[in-house]
Amino acid sequence: MTPARQAAYDILMTACRGSSIDPALESHRAQLSPPDAALATELAYGVLRRRAQLDFLIILSSGKPKLPTDAEVLTALRLGAYQLRFLTRIPAHAAVSESVELVKRHGKRSAAGLVNALLRKLPPLPEHWPDAPTRLSLPDWILARWTGAWGREAAESAALAALQPPETYIRHSSSSDQIQMLEETEVPGCYRVSGPVPPACRIQDIGSQWVASLLEVHPGHAVLDLCAAPGNKTAQLLEASPRIAVACDASPRRLKAMALSGHAAGARLLRLDATQPLPFGPIFDRILVDAPCSGTGTLARNPDIKWRLAPDDILRHAARQKQILASALACLKPGGRLVYSTCSIEPEENSEVIAHVASGYSIQSFTRLPGRDPGDGFQAAVIT
Ligand SMILES: C[S@@+](CC[C@H](N)C(=O)[O-])C[C@H]1O[C@@H](n2cnc3c(N)ncnc32)[C@H](O)[C@@H]1O
Repeated sequence: MTPARQAAYDILMTACRGSSIDPALESHRAQLSPPDAALATELAYGVLRRRAQLDFLIILSSGKPKLPTDAEVLTALRLGAYQLRFLTRIPAHAAVSESVELVKRHGKRSAAGLVNALLRKLPPLPEHWPDAPTRLSLPDWILARWTGAWGREAAESAALAALQPPETYIRHSSSSDQIQMLEETEVPGCYRVSGPVPPACRIQDIGSQWVASLLEVHPGHAVLDLCAAPGNKTAQLLEASPRIAVACDASPRRLKAMALSGHAAGARLLRLDATQPLPFGPIFDRILVDAPCSGTGTLARNPDIKWRLAPDDILRHAARQKQILASALACLKPGGRLVYSTCSIEPEENSEVIAHVASGYSIQSFTRLPGRDPGDGFQAAVIT
């Protein structure tokens, strides 16, 4: 059993239990060699991106109307099917035998024959998938709400973008020879990288860099970054050398990681729950509210979200976002500028939050959709 496949299996079992895969992924990456960590990530993300397609092939192969109910058996089958149909460099016999080994190791020895048989007769990728949610590997309720909000073409583009690994972008604010080698983007200081990431550059998605640029920070400003950790946008706001910078987050763990990363050196870090009234008067010229959200703009980067999210989660996020935005607006100086953003492309978490909380303000709204615009999907509103 290769360590990469064992790690991918463990990560996928976490997803089966409905939890975020991030902690399992981080812990395996820290223990594996770089090539094994890369393969484990590719396998786990690939299975999660293509899950509906893989399940369709497994059902066809079994000739039964439903998937196997054992999570261990299903996970081993999905891993094998992904390698057989989407990774050309892995020999078929290795993909099959390692999935068989996985079920044996995880207490399902009796299913070894079934896994072997289903993977050996797995059909090829079809020319036509049975329906759009299978073709796009997206739950039908998400596809339906995206189609309602953005139209069919944009919804399908966003879903297709979520099937591919995301491109890498870096933040590079100083001029140096390195920059000559990098591909510029429409966001100043943001470069696309297709090879290794140059030293001393911070990886930050183009959508995230675009959000921070909307705040237009100048040196004399007092700046509040309200949902700041892990600090990518704080670091970008600090490039303008504001007079005061305060960065807050509710999570002690994330704030600690932010402090250790050095991203926000120069900002005062505070642990605050922004759903509550904040301990500041209306003193800030610039406020960024990069609110916690469902993350539906980041499915290429976080493919577990699409299988974990439920419709009620979006309403729960929206309720919290309204409280956070209301707290933030109370700290904005007259004439100041607040940017509200999420990496969700759901109107309930964006335009509806703004309409509910900031109706008396001047508002400019922006949307980046995956597949239509480079990078993750984001929505942002500039509130003045
Ligand atoms: C989208 S992330 C922020 C990403 C960050 N702006 C960046 O660019 O690196 C949202 C953050 O909101 C924080 N958060 C969640 N609930 C909060 C609350 N009630 N008050 C303040 N921060 C909160 C989370 O801990 C998380 O770090």
